[in-house]
Amino acid sequence: MEALWIDDLAEAPEGELRPVVWVRRLEAPAGDAAEGRLARRQTLKQLAGRVFQVSPEAVVLDRAEPGGLKVAAPRAAFASVAGRGALIAAALSPVPVGVDIEPAAPTFDLPFDALDEDAQAALAGLDPPARIRAFLRRWTAIEAHLKAHGLGFGQTAPSQVQARARPDGIALRGPGTRRTLAALHEDADHVAALVLLP
Ligand SMILES: CC(C)(COP(=O)(O)OP(=O)(O)OC[C@H]1O[C@@H](n2cnc3c(N)ncnc32)[C@H](O)[C@@H]1OP(=O)(O)O)[C@@H](O)C(=O)NCCC(=O)NCCS
Repeated sequence: MEALWIDDLAEAPEGELRPVVWVRRLEAPAGDAAEGRLARRQTLKQLAGRVFQVSPEAVVLDRAEPGGLKVAAPRAAFASVAGRGALIAAALSPVPVGVDIEPAAPTFDLPFDALDEDAQAALAGLDPPARIRAFLRRWTAIEAHLKAHGLGFGQTAPSQVQARARPDGIALRGPGTRRTLAALHEDADHVAALVLLP
């Protein structure tokens, strides 16, 4: 099952529930955590409204068990959201889904030592720009993998998930989770990853 990545809400598949991810750029980053949460929910409601052909206000979100968000109405659907700075990714899917997004130019020190040892070794010889990209691909893939399973770093540390680069994405395996393949979506300003559990 392949996902559709869109930059513009107008490109969303109307009336058809298939895996779709909207990468949205806000005019300004969310001011605080509460604003960020609201922006992620509004983004997901707009996407679900477009797909289900109702107004965003008619979309009802609910907490998924365990973790994350789901769409409860007008139709049940799996969902996942992520945000960093002015970037938001909202995913809607007929199967469990996890999404993550990070800016391509991070404004803080990346936790390179949070990856498993093989991944750290694979990144060690790279020059700084390539190393950052390689880290972000694995990091977003691990987050997407855990979110698809309803887990966060509170339950599973990132170093417990093996993340291997493949030509078609990042292959993941970790405790208490299924093996998955994260699809990557990269642009000049971001790296994003999506995991589906068919
Ligand atoms: C909570 C966590 C799932 C993601 O946190 P995050 O990267 O700060 O935030 P994101 O924007 O990517 O994702 C937030 C969304 O994850 C979802 N989420 C939280 N817990 C979840 C879980 N157990 N399962 C599925 N999704 C979950 C929520 O829907 C949340 O959005 P909401 O608060 O609007 O409902 C967790 O993996 C974590 O703590 N990450 C640490 C992040 C970090 O250290 N980043 C460094 C950057 S390199």
